[in-house]
Amino acid sequence: MVPDSSWSQQVAALAEEGACALAAAPNEIALREVYARYGGQKGSVKRAVSEAIARAPKEEKRTVGQTGNGALERIETAFASRLAALADAARARDLERSVDVTLPGRAPRIGHLHPITHARREIEQIFARLGFALATGPEVETDFHNFEALAIPKDHPARDMQDTFYLAQGSDLLLRTHTLPVQIRTMLAGPPPIRIICPGAVYRRDDDPTHSPMFHQVEGLVVEERVTFADLKGTLLHFCQAFLGPATRLRLRPSFFPFTEPSAEVDISCVFCGGTGCRTCKGGGWIELGGAGMVDPEVFRQVAYDPEKYNGFAFGFGIDRMAMLKYRINDIRRLYEGDQRLSEQFG
Ligand code: DAH
Repeated sequence: MVPDSSWSQQVAALAEEGACALAAAPNEIALREVYARYGGQKGSVKRAVSEAIARAPKEEKRTVGQTGNGALERIETAFASRLAALADAARARDLERSVDVTLPGRAPRIGHLHPITHARREIEQIFARLGFALATGPEVETDFHNFEALAIPKDHPARDMQDTFYLAQGSDLLLRTHTLPVQIRTMLAGPPPIRIICPGAVYRRDDDPTHSPMFHQVEGLVVEERVTFADLKGTLLHFCQAFLGPATRLRLRPSFFPFTEPSAEVDISCVFCGGTGCRTCKGGGWIELGGAGMVDPEVFRQVAYDPEKYNGFAFGFGIDRMAMLKYRINDIRRLYEGDQRLSEQFG
C-alpha cells in the first residue's frame, strides 16, 4: 500500500458524500448550501486535499494533487448538473401549469384616462387648430423664471413662504406656482412670432381643504408684431365655446397682474344654470376661469424682445376647474381621491 492511499481514499469518500448530497438537494437554495459546504476554495474537499498534499512525502505530492483535483471536479460537476436538472424541472412545471389551450383567453383590463387628462387633451386640440404649438417646462423652477422675469416684485405676497413651496430655506429653487415660467423659457429660447399653449401641474401651499396643493393650469402666449386685445378676446371666446358649448358667454373684468397691462379676469357664463344664477355660481351667473392680458413691456425687456416692435397677449386658466365644469364634477377633491369609479365614467 502506498503511504498516501488512506488520504486519497478519504478525499474520494468526501467527494462522493458531497456529490450524493448535491444530487439529493431538493431545491436551488438547499443546493447552494450544500455546495458552499463541500465545493469551492473554502469547502471541505479543498481543505482535505490541501492537508493531504501537506502531509504527503515529497515524491507523492503530485499524485495526491491529481487525485484531489479529480475530487474537486466531481463536486463542480455534481453541482452544475443538479442546478440544470432543477431548472428543467421548474420549466416543466411552469409549462404544465400555464398552457391549457382549451381555456378562453383573458381579456386585458383596459384602464381609463383621468378627467383632467381628457380635458387637457381636448384643450390642446382646440388650440392646435388655431395654430398654437405645445410647450412644456420644468416643474422645479428658479425664482427668476417663476417671479423675477414676470415683474413680480420681491415683496409680492405670492413669493411668501406661505404661498410658495421652496426646495429649501433661502433656496432659489421652487415648485412653479403657475405655468407662466414656460412663457419666459419660450421667449428666451428664440425670437417671435410665438403662439404657444403650455399645460401642466403647478403647486401652491394652501391649507384650505377645498384647495389642492397641486393643480393644473394651461397658459397661452401669442407674440407678434401686431396683436390686439380684440385678438385675445376672440381667441378666448372661441376656445370657451369650443370646449364648453356654443351657448357659453365670456366676460372680461378689468384686473391687475404684474406681467400684463391691461389685465383682465376671465369669467364664463355658468354652465349649470346658463347664467340665471345657481349654487355653483353663487347666484351670480358667472364663473371665474383665470386671468389674461396684454404682455407687459417689462416682461419683453426681461427676455430681450423689443417692446416697441412686438406686442402680445397671454392667458392662464385652471384645467381642473374647466374639467369640473365640463364634466359636472362638483368638488375638486373628487379629482384627486384616486377613486377609479370616477375615471371609469370616462371610458
Ligand atoms: N398666472 C396667473 C395665476 O396663476 C394667471 C394668469 C393671468 C396667467 C394673466 C397669464 C395672464 O398668462 O396673462 O393666477
